[in-house]
Amino acid sequence: MKVLSLIQLLALETIIVVANGLGVTEPPKGAVVVNVNSNSGYKSIQDAVSSLPDDTSSQTIFIYPGTYHGQVVLKRKGPTTLQGYTEDIKNQGANKVLLTNSLVASAAGSNTKSATLQVYSDDTKVYNINIENSYGTGGGRGAQAQALALSQSGLRNGYYGVGFLSYQDTVYTASGTSYFGSTYIQGAVDYIFGMKGIAYFYNSVLASSSYGFITAQGRESSDYFAGYVFDNVKLITVVNGTDNGVFLGRPWRNHSTVVFKNSDFGNVVKLAGWTTWTTDSPQTDAVYWAEYNNRGASAWNPSRASFARQIGKDEAEGKWSVVGTLGSDGWIDSRFR
Ligand SMILES: *[C@@H]1O[C@H](CO)[C@@H](O)[C@H](O)[C@H]1NC(C)=O
Ligand SMILES: *[C@@H]1O[C@H](CO)[C@@H](O)[C@H](O)[C@H]1NC(C)=O
Repeated sequence: MKVLSLIQLLALETIIVVANGLGVTEPPKGAVVVNVNSNSGYKSIQDAVSSLPDDTSSQTIFIYPGTYHGQVVLKRKGPTTLQGYTEDIKNQGANKVLLTNSLVASAAGSNTKSATLQVYSDDTKVYNINIENSYGTGGGRGAQAQALALSQSGLRNGYYGVGFLSYQDTVYTASGTSYFGSTYIQGAVDYIFGMKGIAYFYNSVLASSSYGFITAQGRESSDYFAGYVFDNVKLITVVNGTDNGVFLGRPWRNHSTVVFKNSDFGNVVKLAGWTTWTTDSPQTDAVYWAEYNNRGASAWNPSRASFARQIGKDEAEGKWSVVGTLGSDGWIDSRFR
């Protein structure tokens, strides 16, 4: 009988990964290349973005492993793909590319301008990059200061195998439509927020780094639609002692709209689940906060806040399906559905 050594097994695994097409370890044909550790290609992601023509052509940027400092602002007209080197596109934990910056909104001039990645274009795809705003560290100066990792505007934008790391206001859905597949989003305060954006989060991890609020969805009126659907996500805490201390959301504006379905809440969520904006300005009368088919000790229980609701399968998988929520799904990478 032939027994494979560990090294042979690892080599075999590498071959299988490549054979399955799960890795992207070479620049796709025609891609603009970024490599902080080489003199060929660009050393900065922003320089590569700035080199792209501002026309309607489709463009791809491939980024080799490394730590990249500064902000990236994407405004071009055509579809752009940002692909980080990866041996497994579906595994955010295996990412080798970090984009990091430290900037608080009060110094940047606005929430959006503080974001490490700012997307203003339509039809963007971002793969396998960890995106960090390192300003907020909890406690001290970072405790109550907006410092965004992502500001997302534009239509049909997909974030796949991406990590988003900050403390307050990590992911901002400023406007447009977006899909987050196999992502990791970390923060403490209002760490997924926005008034106008519509976003669907699938098969992702929401990691709370202190007591706080996962969402601060801020739909302002019933005259327009905006909101979040979380489907098959896993809630975790990454700091000891915050179990059962996290709220699913608080209402940035009166018509806050958030759905959690088919998800694992573990021990993360407070019994009440959801809370007011502030004591003086509760803003809970017209919220739509729904839960369906979640599991874990902190899923739905008799102590849920009176302004939360449970919904049935027809609504959860009909109205709040991907197409029901985003209006279309042909643009979503089917590997992340
Ligand atoms: C939490 O505490 C346990 C036991 O002291 C420790 O092993 C673990 O690393 C801690 N986790 C974090 C995220 O600090
Ligand atoms: C939000 O709702 C509260 C209470 O119903 C109301 O007093 C307030 O004017 C509303 N805010 C807006 C911006 O409509």
